Amino acid sequence: MEVPDIKILDEKNKLLRKVSKDATFPLTNEDKKLIEDAINYLKASQDDEIAEKYCLRAGMGLAFVQLGILKRIFVIANKNDDDTFEEHIIINPIIKSASEELIYVGEGEGCLSVNRPTCGIVPRHARINVEYQDINGKKKNIRVREDISVAFQHEIDHLNGILFVDKIDKKDPYKNKNQMREI
Ligand code: NI
Repeated sequence: MEVPDIKILDEKNKLLRKVSKDATFPLTNEDKKLIEDAINYLKASQDDEIAEKYCLRAGMGLAFVQLGILKRIFVIANKNDDDTFEEHIIINPIIKSASEELIYVGEGEGCLSVNRPTCGIVPRHARINVEYQDINGKKKNIRVREDISVAFQHEIDHLNGILFVDKIDKKDPYKNKNQMREI
């Protein structure tokens, strides 16, 4: 497995604070290549041997803005227990509905653009319904839950210029913890 040569912007870069624009179809070949590279990068980052060799931090999602492109596109690649990957290519997403139930990642969320230790919890909806376009521009709907729901909300925030650290209460990083379910 080769590690694609992509450059991920650090949170200090102001571009990460911009709101991305809807992608138009057909996607350019550059966009398609970047989607493929981003997925392969995420997969490589979750392979212990490769991650150690190339000093990669494990990640399961990347938004185009993190690669310097202000288009509403993100990808997810998450390793299953059987070492296969759950993959999503999501373009122009809209959250149509969200569960009342809130969850948070117990060990804390991470982001390939945030290269420092963080603490605190980020409240997320346990389940969301998302309308989006696939790589060919076809409209689709998906219902995601638990860690994938968190990942989708994290990436959709990126498309709106928001980082997960923005959502942690600075004075009380574990605020309302008891009113949410830890995953
Ligand atoms: Ni992120």
